[in-house]
Amino acid sequence: MRAVVIEAPGRINVTTVDDPKPGPREVVVEVAGAGICGTDLHIIDGDLEGTVYPIVPGHEFAGTVAAVGKAVTEFAVGDRVAVDPNVFCGECHYCKIGHGNLCERYNAIGVISSPGAAAQYCAAPVANCYLLPESVPLEHAPLIEPLSCAVHGFDLLPGRVGEHYLVYGAGTMGLMMAQLARFSGAASVSVVDLNTDRLPVAAGLGADRVAASAAELDRPEGWEVVIDCTGAVPAIEDGLTRVRKGGTFQVFGVAPEAATASFSPFRVYKDEIHIVGSMAVLHSFGRAVDLLAKRVVDPDVMISHRFGLDDYESAVDAFRKGTGRKLQVQPAA
Ligand SMILES: NC(=O)c1ccc[n+]([C@@H]2O[C@H](COP(=O)([O-])OP(=O)(O)OC[C@H]3O[C@@H](n4cnc5c(N)ncnc54)[C@H](O)[C@@H]3O)[C@@H](O)[C@H]2O)c1
Ligand SMILES: [Zn+2]
Ligand SMILES: [Zn+2]
Repeated sequence: MRAVVIEAPGRINVTTVDDPKPGPREVVVEVAGAGICGTDLHIIDGDLEGTVYPIVPGHEFAGTVAAVGKAVTEFAVGDRVAVDPNVFCGECHYCKIGHGNLCERYNAIGVISSPGAAAQYCAAPVANCYLLPESVPLEHAPLIEPLSCAVHGFDLLPGRVGEHYLVYGAGTMGLMMAQLARFSGAASVSVVDLNTDRLPVAAGLGADRVAASAAELDRPEGWEVVIDCTGAVPAIEDGLTRVRKGGTFQVFGVAPEAATASFSPFRVYKDEIHIVGSMAVLHSFGRAVDLLAKRVVDPDVMISHRFGLDDYESAVDAFRKGTGRKLQVQPAA
């Protein structure tokens, strides 16, 4: 089959590799689409901890079951599935306390050591496959994985209705968070992004207010929930000052591993500010399937560009430039 192989950091090769064969409790998926995200850039650049090269990237994907392992009864050839790429060991301390996303032997298809979906075919454990409702076109389904990350982020927020939300970043993740906040009964949702070209899309998706900076939004009492979806230290430092007394700040964006940020511990104490991180997916993939079926996020707006496998490098370059929103690789195109 044709596949994108990251041979080593900085070396992308679109080539022919052996077709995957399903293990006893695996299926092989004919990939309809694979989304590109910041994690793929980290894999290509060699700055993601744990990646074993060479690796086929692609962890946000969906497709049609093309083969099933000999002990698979749940899926049949032709089923349309989305795949949760996160593979937890089930044996370590964190898995045993229900925190599989913090697994000591965390693996993820297309990220750590299992071949991913920037290829015609990709193998996945049965446990990670979710049957798609008929109303979800295959082409939209690669959005389920990033949405399941946003849903996990939401699980860690207080989730009270009638509160005011401020989201930093109007990329795919910020836009998903903003749409989830609206759906979850926020009193208002504001989105800030330095890239003002991205603001009209946020407004079109239902953000009440958009701006290049939170200072323009004139809300001196602050917001009950502030979510960073940039991973940028200046945004995080600014965002922490915008949290209302008793409110919550979520670090959802991925900052560089060595980055540090300043905040006032006095204010965190005195105003009872909650600071929470959110890492990948935990028990949230199935709910993301249902939320996409309900069109809580608008797939036609979220997926902005499509590329064939041979154009993988162009897709990566376009993503680096901040082009559009979710860029999707379609191996059959
Ligand atoms: N926690 C998780 O599980 C998880 C899952 C997926 C992605 N992420 C992370 O979420 C972040 C967002 O992902 P994305 O795909 O939307 O990225 P993106 O690059 O498309 O969007 C980030 C946006 O932040 C804006 N930005 C940068 N600095 C800013 C600042 N100081 N103030 C305001 N806006 C600023 C950029 O202009 C950009 O539009 C990334 O860091 C990504 O790695 C986290
Ligand atoms: Zn991703
Ligand atoms: Zn584990």
